[in-house]
Amino acid sequence: MFARDESDRLERLWRGTFGDAYVRRNLTADEGRKSFWWETLAKLDVVSALEVGCNVGANLRWLAEMLDRTNMVGVDINQRALEILRERLPGVRTVAASARSLPFADGSFDLVFTTGVLIHQDHDSLNRVMDEIVRCSSRYVLCGEYCAEPPEEIPYHGERGVLFKRDFGSLYQERFPELTLLEQGFLPASAGGWEDVTFWIFAKR
Ligand SMILES: C[S@@+](CC[C@H](N)C(=O)[O-])C[C@H]1O[C@@H](n2cnc3c(N)ncnc32)[C@H](O)[C@@H]1O
Repeated sequence: MFARDESDRLERLWRGTFGDAYVRRNLTADEGRKSFWWETLAKLDVVSALEVGCNVGANLRWLAEMLDRTNMVGVDINQRALEILRERLPGVRTVAASARSLPFADGSFDLVFTTGVLIHQDHDSLNRVMDEIVRCSSRYVLCGEYCAEPPEEIPYHGERGVLFKRDFGSLYQERFPELTLLEQGFLPASAGGWEDVTFWIFAKR
């Protein structure tokens, strides 16, 4: 199978019933994430933010307490997720788009971030998504993802070829010399809100 077919297959999954089932499971995912976002935004100089793969807003909910909602955008390919996000966070702009082709000008947002989204890109798509994230950021890039080196493919809710753990921090650093690592950390499942997620925060020069 060609890489583009694989990227299309994954996006079709997230658009359809597989993605809708995730939305139902994810409705309370915001609980336990407040302290991470409050601590993170307190350290950075952020006025505008874009979340790529925002789902129902488990992260944007907390950003909305600190940023003006009119400066916040959530992108996703699952329409049901965006409907719920609009109900929950009126004023936050939602955009149905592929992370492989973000409909924003270069440097449109101070912060562009993902949590649990890069893990769901196949190898070809991953580079395009990271390129788009870095292109749309003017100051910071953040990702919170499952980390493994060497990369591991993990079965996910009955599907194969859907979840890939990688060292995303190193991938960002190798591909983008304009990024400087500000912080790396681990968010253990035992602390609530996250499931053994590694996060990296980069400044963009
Ligand atoms: C595992 S969920 C994570 C949701 C959210 N970031 C969180 O932490 O709660 C992955 C999300 O990314 C979206 N997604 C996956 N691949 C995408 C792509 N190529 N373009 C846009 N959205 C994508 C899915 O629809 C889903 O909402």
